[in-house]
Amino acid sequence: MCGIVGYLGSSKACPILINGLLKLEYRGYDSAGISTIENNKIMCIKNKGRVKELQNIEEINSLNGSIGIAHTRWATHGKPSSINAHPHLDNSKTFSVVHNGIIENHRELRTFLNNAGYTFLSETDTEVIPNLIHYYYSKEASNEANRFVKSVKKAVQDLKGSYAIAVISSLEPDKIIVARKDSPLVIGVKNNDKYIASDIPAILEYTNNIYILDDGDIAELSSNQITFYDKNFNVVNKNIEVITWDAKSACKNGYEDYMLKEIYEQPTAIRETIGTILDDCKKCNFGNINITKDYLASLSRIYIIACGTAMHAGLAVKPIFERLTSIPVEVDVASEFRYRNPLIDEHTLIICISQSGETADTIAALKNSKLCGCKTIAISNVIGSSISREADFTLYTHAGPEIAVASTKAYTSQITILALLAIYFAEVLERHEDTIIQNLKEEILELPSKVSIILENTDLIKEFAKKIYKEKDLFFIGRSVDYATTMEASLKLKEISYIHSDAYQSGELKHGPIALIEDDVTVIGIITDKRLVDKSISNIQEVITRGAKTLIITNQEINNEIFPNIVHIPKVNPLLSPILSIIPLQLLAYYVSKEKGLDIDKPRNLAKSVTVE
Ligand code: AGP
Ligand code: GLU
Repeated sequence: MCGIVGYLGSSKACPILINGLLKLEYRGYDSAGISTIENNKIMCIKNKGRVKELQNIEEINSLNGSIGIAHTRWATHGKPSSINAHPHLDNSKTFSVVHNGIIENHRELRTFLNNAGYTFLSETDTEVIPNLIHYYYSKEASNEANRFVKSVKKAVQDLKGSYAIAVISSLEPDKIIVARKDSPLVIGVKNNDKYIASDIPAILEYTNNIYILDDGDIAELSSNQITFYDKNFNVVNKNIEVITWDAKSACKNGYEDYMLKEIYEQPTAIRETIGTILDDCKKCNFGNINITKDYLASLSRIYIIACGTAMHAGLAVKPIFERLTSIPVEVDVASEFRYRNPLIDEHTLIICISQSGETADTIAALKNSKLCGCKTIAISNVIGSSISREADFTLYTHAGPEIAVASTKAYTSQITILALLAIYFAEVLERHEDTIIQNLKEEILELPSKVSIILENTDLIKEFAKKIYKEKDLFFIGRSVDYATTMEASLKLKEISYIHSDAYQSGELKHGPIALIEDDVTVIGIITDKRLVDKSISNIQEVITRGAKTLIITNQEINNEIFPNIVHIPKVNPLLSPILSIIPLQLLAYYVSKEKGLDIDKPRNLAKSVTVE
């Protein structure tokens, strides 16, 4: 669930490991630890709290080994404490393990190991792993070639659940063994130095040349080679992926917080995502995605499946897909979809959206759907992420690394690429008049500069944040495509400011929620669809009459004298307006959280990617 870093090479491991852990801090964690090997002995230092506190432990400076593993833990089994922190050692202190994920059968394994004479120090599920490895290692003949990697293989075969692990041993002090299932792990290489990470930004400073492990893979790293084994323990070759993100893109670059930096990166993120898909408004080009006219014409339904913000991106693009393709679209939350026996067959297309590409529920929903014979498309921001390995086709947003827990640039990039996909489908289907398509393409190319205009005019938002930051509850309302924006704006505010808010379709107010409107309650309305402007204004008027203070985000002509606090955004085709209307509301969430003095990039209880159910 949280962070793994490893190093094997010619330099001192400790500073590289600590640096990697600092780069992973954004993911949220409760404790940190590090193991190196020196004079054939495992050294292990770990602590509850921040990586900085780990750095302050005096002994850390005396870790001189050039091989090591490190971890930031996000507790699932056992409270955050030094004992429960990783790495965990076996009873003989010859194996040290860091683990991301959950071992679901840890109780059975504990009993098995207890019966074999092993004891446990921590409450974690993880501690069974080093002991199981020791158990199998001691059963192998001492002259057995590959004894270490074979023992790890046998141990992981016994594990149920999800894991990315890295293991070192004082008995074979020149090796690191790694394995993964349902939790990401990559290996970076530069000359003879080897780096391990659960998330690419941790090692981007050292190398862009990355091997991505597949589910079930095990790798043995030594100073002169890496041997990869697939899930059947056959030796396999892997290709290096060259990651185009540069190390700077994973730094704050002068911004106070990653979230603010990422909000301001949206013009670039959208431009890069459009990339070569749309060139001079010719036909959309998605490379070798194999979607034919007959196939699209045979579809009875498209499901868009995702969690959180990515799900809101699905809601935002449902109208453009339905309008351009005439195929009904259903948007569903992955954690519900995977358990509700949805109607799926070969006439269904599944589109899964996941910034990280590692969200457990979204991946499970995709895997289940594939079993019913449908095609699947993944939208992800991380090259080689788990979801991209499961889907029939993957389309990448090019937002660059998103570090802040609250997703911003990934969201607008997801809507951008999905809008382009809807246009592409319409072109393949030859179902829509050229003028609509042409207009949408021109408008998409103008989006980056329109986003920049919004980002240059933030005074009103900053002022409004000062007015509302002490509130406990507020409302977002919008109609049609603006409803998706209300959902996303409400989530953003909840995540980083801890203020409760509800999102409603404006027309629904009268059916209940209006009972909650009284003096000084804040209602934020989004109005971008010309056809609905009068109705939306009436809804705002209704809440003002009942004493509400309001903020309106709009690209329509609305009278400033009657309605105070209007943020004007550039005009755009309503099918694309979610990309623009969310920007002021991302900023509002940011400035409210800033006023409250909260940790914006690492909100409480949240992790950047949710790799467990
Ligand atoms: C976004 O601000 C949230 N932190 C969260 O809802 C996120 O969008 C969700 O967990 C899905 O993540 P994914 O896109 O990496 O799958
Ligand atoms: N389940 C393990 C624990 O609670 C690992 C948690 C993590 O992924 O950080 O220690």
